[in-house]
Amino acid sequence: MELVVVDSYRELSLWAANRVADLIRRKPNAVLGLATGSTPLGLYEELVRRHREEGLDFSQVTTFNLDEYLGLPPDHPASYHYFMRENLFAHINVRPGAVHIPSGVAADIEQECIRYEEAIRQAGGIDLQILGIGRNGHIGFNEPGTPFDSRTHVVDLAEDTRRANARFFNSIDEVPRRAVTMGIATIMEAREILLLASGPEKAWAVARTLEGEVTPEVPASVLQRHPRVFVVADRGAAAQVKKLAG
Ligand code: PGA
Repeated sequence: MELVVVDSYRELSLWAANRVADLIRRKPNAVLGLATGSTPLGLYEELVRRHREEGLDFSQVTTFNLDEYLGLPPDHPASYHYFMRENLFAHINVRPGAVHIPSGVAADIEQECIRYEEAIRQAGGIDLQILGIGRNGHIGFNEPGTPFDSRTHVVDLAEDTRRANARFFNSIDEVPRRAVTMGIATIMEAREILLLASGPEKAWAVARTLEGEVTPEVPASVLQRHPRVFVVADRGAAAQVKKLAG
């Protein structure tokens, strides 16, 4: 894993946007793995700007999002379908048919998980996966304890995750208790991974990811076994990394 420490959230967003834009220029039909949450917002804003002002072309790009809440329809303002539309897809020229997000309202959710895995395979796999990280080290919605060989699956959300995400809802009671997420094995098959982390509340998780034991108790620690991972962290998020202190 390569750690990139940057001075600000803005710099983190630009670093990630450069990486995505370089990939799309090199491979116009790239397959992107996308994440939700606050962390990638600056990246998406910058990609929209580059599309508008510099003609960054998404017309052949395919995208797969990590996860979705179970039970939230795509037009629910706290759903990840809605989030991605508002913050990225409505503002770039990606083809609607090339956008993939697991359905949180499929009649047969097990079948939906299988279909999602199959769609990723059909697209040729993910070239570049964007990840945030939970305060507990989760990636996607793979909470501590998730087996490393998991594929797209339904999860029970950790209370800490529900509390952290309650800001997107009227109250914590409205935060769904379950979600559907790419599994750890699904994420690990991406050819390159960018993990973005901002702020001191991520410092423990970032340090454990980079320097801790590889254990399902810290899901992101599995990334130590991936050949091409960049952890892009601002100073707050990198604050507990020992090798920086030395
Ligand atoms: P955040 O979420 O970007 O909103 O902090 C990250 C995550 O929980 O994976």
